[in-house]
Amino acid sequence: TTNHLRHVESMASLPSGAGKISHLNAVILGEALASEENDFVFPSDDFSRQALIPSPHKYLEMYKRSIEDPAGFWSGIASSEFYWKQKWGDQVCSENLDVRKGDIKIEWFKGGITNICYNCLDRNIDAGLADKIALYWESNEPGFDAHLTYSQLLHRVCQLANYLKSIGVRKGDAVIVYLPMLMELPITMLACARIGAVHSVVFAGFSSESLAQRIVDCKPKVVITCNAVKRGPKTIHLKDIVDAALVESAKNGISIDVCLTYENQSALKKESTKWQEGRDVWWEDVVPKYPTTCDVEWVDAEDPLFLLYTSGSTGKPKGVLHTTGGYMVYTATTFKYAFDYKESDVYWCTADCGWITGHSYVTYGPMLNGATVVVYEGAPNYPDSGRCWDIVDKYKVTIFYTAPTLVRSLMRDGDEASYFVLISRLLSLQYVTRYSRKSLRVLGSVGEPINPSAWRWFFNVVGGSRCPISDTWWQTETGGFMITPLPGAWPQKPGSATFPFFGVQPVIVDEKGTEIDGECSGYLCVKGSWPGAFRTLYGDHERYETTYFRPFPGYYFTGDGCSRDKDGYHWLTGRVDDVINVSGHRIGTAEVESALVSHPQCAEAAVVGVEHEVKGQGIYAFVTLVEGVPYSEELRKSLILTVRNQIGAFAAPDKIHWAPGLPKTRSGKIMRRILRKIASRQLDELGDVSTLAEPGVVDQLIALADS
Ligand code: WTA
Repeated sequence: TTNHLRHVESMASLPSGAGKISHLNAVILGEALASEENDFVFPSDDFSRQALIPSPHKYLEMYKRSIEDPAGFWSGIASSEFYWKQKWGDQVCSENLDVRKGDIKIEWFKGGITNICYNCLDRNIDAGLADKIALYWESNEPGFDAHLTYSQLLHRVCQLANYLKSIGVRKGDAVIVYLPMLMELPITMLACARIGAVHSVVFAGFSSESLAQRIVDCKPKVVITCNAVKRGPKTIHLKDIVDAALVESAKNGISIDVCLTYENQSALKKESTKWQEGRDVWWEDVVPKYPTTCDVEWVDAEDPLFLLYTSGSTGKPKGVLHTTGGYMVYTATTFKYAFDYKESDVYWCTADCGWITGHSYVTYGPMLNGATVVVYEGAPNYPDSGRCWDIVDKYKVTIFYTAPTLVRSLMRDGDEASYFVLISRLLSLQYVTRYSRKSLRVLGSVGEPINPSAWRWFFNVVGGSRCPISDTWWQTETGGFMITPLPGAWPQKPGSATFPFFGVQPVIVDEKGTEIDGECSGYLCVKGSWPGAFRTLYGDHERYETTYFRPFPGYYFTGDGCSRDKDGYHWLTGRVDDVINVSGHRIGTAEVESALVSHPQCAEAAVVGVEHEVKGQGIYAFVTLVEGVPYSEELRKSLILTVRNQIGAFAAPDKIHWAPGLPKTRSGKIMRRILRKIASRQLDELGDVSTLAEPGVVDQLIALADS
């Protein structure tokens, strides 16, 4: 058995419900009571009794089976809960995960013929869910909303699928989608899947340059967007951004024939939208004319479903490729168990479909389960910090899944009025307690480690000490949850993602790649494959192997640090590579650096992450200017603007630190370790600087720290 299994076996012997913490009923504003520090937070007996996985024993039984017989475990689920036009071949899974033994290859259910859109819609409708609400859409402006039942959703999807076919989109063609959180976004994803086209959704906060880069990389047949979106009081003209991106990509030899544009009436009228005749097509002029039924394109389980670009340690974003069958089985199963899904649930995930969370847990995972999903267009604190709870009450949301950064920002709101944390926390409480939230039963967290005080505030204040929190650790690459509580089974520890999902074998290794056991901390890797794993980086299998499978041969390397405590609980400690996590958004330091150095007055830049109270990490940039250029406030602003224009507003540096020189080794490598210490002002922990080519630069940097 694996190390993990031994831990779980010891956990399973815990008496369930032991040591229940009654004082949690007191509102403790996110602060731990002294005695609670090392205590478990137990699900209530009522919750556990009704849960799909009601105890550690049950988890253990299933987990054991999933590890000892992965093929049997996953094929059992795949054949009983999904529709396959044709069953897969003899092998459920065929894989090589060891670079020393040849090319990395992962295949699940190869030869199986299916369609994920069919499984999301047609199959659920046949099972009696035709009139169940599939999507509730809430506009940025309170009072404006819409909804679609499963059968209405199918009609919309088919109309778009037929239109896409009519303009020549075929199986395997790429489609770039640059849409905000309108119902048209999941509709578009499902329509692509229905005809076997490969969608690549680009988060609508990316700049035109980033969008162009993705268009050039995947060469789509069509780009789908809308004219504008409102986020809070601001109107963002998305179509203008697309126009600029299309000019840019044409310069790089990729011209797009069709730009399908949805009129988002609440944000901008048709008449005010810039238009290029011949290329631009209004969605409402064409799509509704097509039939509401559309034959499914049956695809192989290993045919590509989507590409999603994500940040890595070099400047060029990586096109993470997911295929159909394994991803389908994995997202549906993780959704079901990690949120203890019931047919009566109303589910709301605040993530945008532009990120993996929106792919797996706004669209596919919930829809495969026939769930009712809330999609919210706007900003979580608009018109005020009570908006989320207003939406929860309005739709009677039972499962609420969000990011720690949102929890921390809501926890803090009301701050301006007071210098005292306690008073400001009390003020912020009103935004929550004004609403009932009594429909809530499960909470979820994703994107970055959730600090214990935010965890407690989420648990006690938002969830009324009643709702377990599924702190789901996973990545764009993993497709679905990897380490996550199962809400009815596990006593929780605030801030720990607890234990692996079925079929997942996390291992912690030291620098040499040796697996370490017991209470330990090190690099988080995964042994073996799971159905939802990504299969390659689009057009660059070499980079796939180098980044993920070469650092610790025999394992998939996650890029995260992790420790395991005496009870076997996992605590994610953040990225150990050159990726930072800002408000749950993944950003490569190299991407920000290359944006900065594109500024004509910037000679060199080095970017590190620093702790940030709300965002988790902030972006801290050391900038060396071209010889003779003086520091100025204006230049600082123009550097930040350059990053906004090249990547997007979410990647704008929080701090520019003027650097006459950067600390480098004699071989010219930037010593980021030292920069991180300077950025976080841990000046007495700089360590040995004598190996630097010019040790004097450190003093210069410190002298300029607050200028
Ligand atoms: C981080 C988002 C701690 C982690 C789904 C990972 C987390 C990166 C958690 C992936 C969590 C995500 N606890 N850290 N619950 N969830 N992360 O690809 O560093 O956007 O490697 O996928 O986010 O970010 P990505």
